[in-house]
Amino acid sequence: MRLYINIDHVATVRQARMTDEPDPVRAAVLAELGGADGITVHQRVDQRHISPRDVRLLQETIRTGLNLEVSSADDMVDFAVAVEPTAVTLVPENREEVTTEGGLDLSSEAARQPLSTALRRLEDRGIRTSLFIDPDLEAIDHAAALQTDAVELHTGQYANALGHPGRGDELVRLARAAEHAHGTGLAVHAGHGLTYENVVPVAALPLIEELNIGHSVISRAVLVGLERAVREMKEIVAAAPARVARPGEWLPPLGF
Ligand code: PXP
Repeated sequence: MRLYINIDHVATVRQARMTDEPDPVRAAVLAELGGADGITVHQRVDQRHISPRDVRLLQETIRTGLNLEVSSADDMVDFAVAVEPTAVTLVPENREEVTTEGGLDLSSEAARQPLSTALRRLEDRGIRTSLFIDPDLEAIDHAAALQTDAVELHTGQYANALGHPGRGDELVRLARAAEHAHGTGLAVHAGHGLTYENVVPVAALPLIEELNIGHSVISRAVLVGLERAVREMKEIVAAAPARVARPGEWLPPLGF
């Protein structure tokens, strides 16, 4: 099972102040040191978190694989083709949404056409492709007909059913979808809304080969890292009186 870490929300914190920290490229390197098998980012049209520069720097820097999520809009596919990441996951995108809300609509020829065009362009460049879809057998058949390499099963409904009696049904739905997708020759990925509390049953499904997890890992990083971050600031503040420069004297910054 590969674990890809989505670092979009490192960039969300940076964009809250429009500054240069925290840097998603540094975060990606730390995620790799922690054992991530790859890094996922969603390049949204509105660039609300990750920017095209981030994606280009990530592609140059990381040592594992880059999974770039984009919509099938022509200019986004142009960008993906130019970056040449390891993999591209095509996702639906709606300007008003807080996060990706559902899987791709594959129900009509008109909806499938732009996806088919995007898939062929990516495939021509040797980029592995994936379609983010609901765990729905009909959607899987359409995805297989579109000749994508993989599908990413949307685990949001499973995640939202936490503590509800329907959660078991959602897990069964994911298991059936994984089996069906695998049976049609597709690689099976899963993601969205997975947390430390709900991931185990999904990670135990034998046919799923990749998980994409973001928000919960970045949230935990804030908490497990906060104590050390405060201690370091406290040390700087406590040491300040001894470091006050005389007028005109330059002091190098502390090396944090
Ligand atoms: N997979 C896809 C296609 C996504 O759009 C997202 C969210 O950007 C994720 C996985 C990760 O979801 P989460 O941040 O809830 O773990």
